[in-house]
Amino acid sequence: MMERRAPRPSELRPLLKFKKPTLSPKERRLAAALTIEDLRAIAKRRTPKAAFDYTDGAAEEELSLARARQAFRDVTFHPRILRDVSKVDTSRTVLGTPSALPFGIAPTGFTRMMQTEGEYAGASAAGAAGIPYTLSTMGTASIEDVRDANPSGRNWFQLYMWKDRERSMALVDRAAAAGYEALVVTVDVPVAGARLRDTRNGMTIPPTLTPRTVANAIPRPAWWINFLTTEPLAFASLDRWSGTVAELLDTMFDPTVDYADLAWIKDQWKGKLVVKGVQSVEDASRLAELGVDAIVLSNHGGRQLDRAPVPFHLLPEVAREVGDATEIHLDTGIMSGADIVAALALGARFTLIGRAYLYGLMAGGREGVDKTIEILSTQIERTMRLLGVSSLDELRPDHVTQLERLVPRR
Ligand SMILES: Cc1cc2nc3c(=O)[nH]c(=O)nc-3n(C[C@H](O)[C@H](O)[C@H](O)COP(=O)(O)O)c2cc1C
Repeated sequence: MMERRAPRPSELRPLLKFKKPTLSPKERRLAAALTIEDLRAIAKRRTPKAAFDYTDGAAEEELSLARARQAFRDVTFHPRILRDVSKVDTSRTVLGTPSALPFGIAPTGFTRMMQTEGEYAGASAAGAAGIPYTLSTMGTASIEDVRDANPSGRNWFQLYMWKDRERSMALVDRAAAAGYEALVVTVDVPVAGARLRDTRNGMTIPPTLTPRTVANAIPRPAWWINFLTTEPLAFASLDRWSGTVAELLDTMFDPTVDYADLAWIKDQWKGKLVVKGVQSVEDASRLAELGVDAIVLSNHGGRQLDRAPVPFHLLPEVAREVGDATEIHLDTGIMSGADIVAALALGARFTLIGRAYLYGLMAGGREGVDKTIEILSTQIERTMRLLGVSSLDELRPDHVTQLERLVPRR
């Protein structure tokens, strides 16, 4: 039988681990988040339903997005052992300049609706982390203000070609004058995708107060206080708009844009040119021949064509076809640093994050975006170490296989 005795205070003291009470509620909230999913859960609690669903949702049955995320979850990593991984280098040269991490922030429209710091939070957090930031044509902060939020960092400008060419090109000129490094031309929006959550929620721009939105606002006071007490929410590069997002896209965007238009834009823009929304090997090769600097394999986070190819599935074949002359970037479905490592192993030079960044933004403004970057960066480093690589250039296709479930049959 064990003999029992009372514990001594000196034995108890080291066991008492009370959390330091110095953290603010926001810091506490963010400190508890270990994954991007955790940030998503916080974001959902704190953001009005229409704004959260606009961000979280995708087109039609949301199969493109679900499949893209599943494809990353279906990765098997093949580690090497007995390598010195005491130091790991997570930097990656993209468009000729090093980025501290192998991902940048994807362009997202109407970002100040998710949380009032919006584009400013994204751009300044990207600058602090040494990664590129992309401002959308549909942004809610101007080209110049974003440059001022990230004055010594790398800013890219995402262009949608409008029916009014002159106005589109006026934005391009402003981006050039403000020192933007790259023009990212998005080519997967000839018309708007059917974002059914937005339709069901009656999502309008700007958000309107109906009995339903007011009821939904009661447990989310911080968002509304921010919304009502900061600079009014508006598209920085468009006239005032009232209507649904889909109506806006269909009124503005030009469904006639083709390869000749792209070649014309290429002549106008002296910086780096990136084409975003590439979804076939054939288009990837054609763009490489045209001499663009990078293509982004992307289905717009599943917000356009539903049942679109999974960009991660296209990657190996595109990498074989396109080779090194044109950089291959990839987005859609990235929810962890391990997803990013898998994409680099299969031939992506760089990746972009959309929702992963927006969940952080909604969870805690600028600090929330910092948290997203920190989570992904920690996951990248740990995955590299466990794979036995100390620099990203050591990643090879044979570090990764994909479970067959979602691999297309040919
Ligand atoms: C709320 C939201 C708004 C977006 N707005 C734009 C946009 O204005 N222009 C654009 O090229 N892509 C836009 N995208 C697509 C992103 O740039 C990116 O391709 C996509 O989010 C990547 O998928 P992920 O969210 O799974 O990371 C948007 C995505 C989201 C989630």
